[in-house]
Amino acid sequence: MIQLTLIRPDDCHVHLRDDNQMCSILPDTVRRFARAIVMPNLKLPVSTTELALAYRKRIYSALPVAMKGHFTPLMTLYLTDNTPSSEIIRAKESGAVHGIKFYPAGATTHSNSGVTDITKCYSTLETMERADMPLLVHGEVTDPETDIFDREKIFIDKVLIPVIKRFQKLRIVFEHITTKEAVEFVKETSNNIGATITAHHMLLNRNAMFNSGIRPHHYCLPVLKHETHRRALIEAAISENPKFFLGTDSAPHSKFTKETACGCAGIYTSHAAIELYAEVFEQANALEKLEAFASFYGADFYKMPRNKDTISMIKENWNAPAQIDFSGEALIPFRANEVVTWKMTD
Ligand code: DOR
Ligand code: ZN
Repeated sequence: MIQLTLIRPDDCHVHLRDDNQMCSILPDTVRRFARAIVMPNLKLPVSTTELALAYRKRIYSALPVAMKGHFTPLMTLYLTDNTPSSEIIRAKESGAVHGIKFYPAGATTHSNSGVTDITKCYSTLETMERADMPLLVHGEVTDPETDIFDREKIFIDKVLIPVIKRFQKLRIVFEHITTKEAVEFVKETSNNIGATITAHHMLLNRNAMFNSGIRPHHYCLPVLKHETHRRALIEAAISENPKFFLGTDSAPHSKFTKETACGCAGIYTSHAAIELYAEVFEQANALEKLEAFASFYGADFYKMPRNKDTISMIKENWNAPAQIDFSGEALIPFRANEVVTWKMTD
């Protein structure tokens, strides 16, 4: 039997949703991860420290009794054109908020209250830089003329480079990177810049959205890319460069909101998150590098202590569920009814 034991990982980018939907899916994350950076794009965006603290309380209440005390949600605030510097100070002083999420307005799910022009936020970014509060970036331009496959690459030149030039000490996480251009950019930029990489962007290329027909459960944002980009992401993840770390971007939507004429973006992977990363690293002959990517580099970037306890997996095939209950509706998870080759044992 092949067994793999790792220091317990952290998910540096997850969507936990709210209320009953959150209760349905939270155990999947908590079973695997000690901590998670929780995205703030609820229907009512988590744009203040007060809202973040209330959301954190709801997350703690949603934890099943057996899991209480085993999980720490790390909260984020949703940046708007009008986020005042005083809110950043409050967030920092709370000790509960670990990053400020920048969604370009219209880029993705619940991003309508996002930033219309980042220069409007420059005084807020200055406060973040001084307070050492990280900026978490959804890196895609939103103008409809830009080809959807080019949105990340163009964001680097148009938005990220000017921000980095102006705020040289601001710590930035370039979230869910999907292109070789993003990998190169992160590698060559200062150590203040890190990046999360999802399992699904390393397991699939854009063909997966059109495999014998349109596949809404493989649609997410940033959208899956060409094979050359997928390979560049794997190279980055296994490179032992501490700038690259695990963030699932697991983003549940009910089956009926994805299987429709205008389906939502998001892939749910929390039910097999670390197992899927293990597949990627094993296929790349780099299983021994998984632990640092999953459990060390994210914690180091966020200046948190590394976890102490461990998780174990064995090499054994199991089928992911065909569907998962999502507050009375169906949620179709990644690999639904298909084989996952690593299995959690605890
Ligand atoms: O595919 C995505 N789904 N990308 C995002 O940026 C947001 C997420 C969601 O919240 O559903
Ligand atoms: Zn996300």
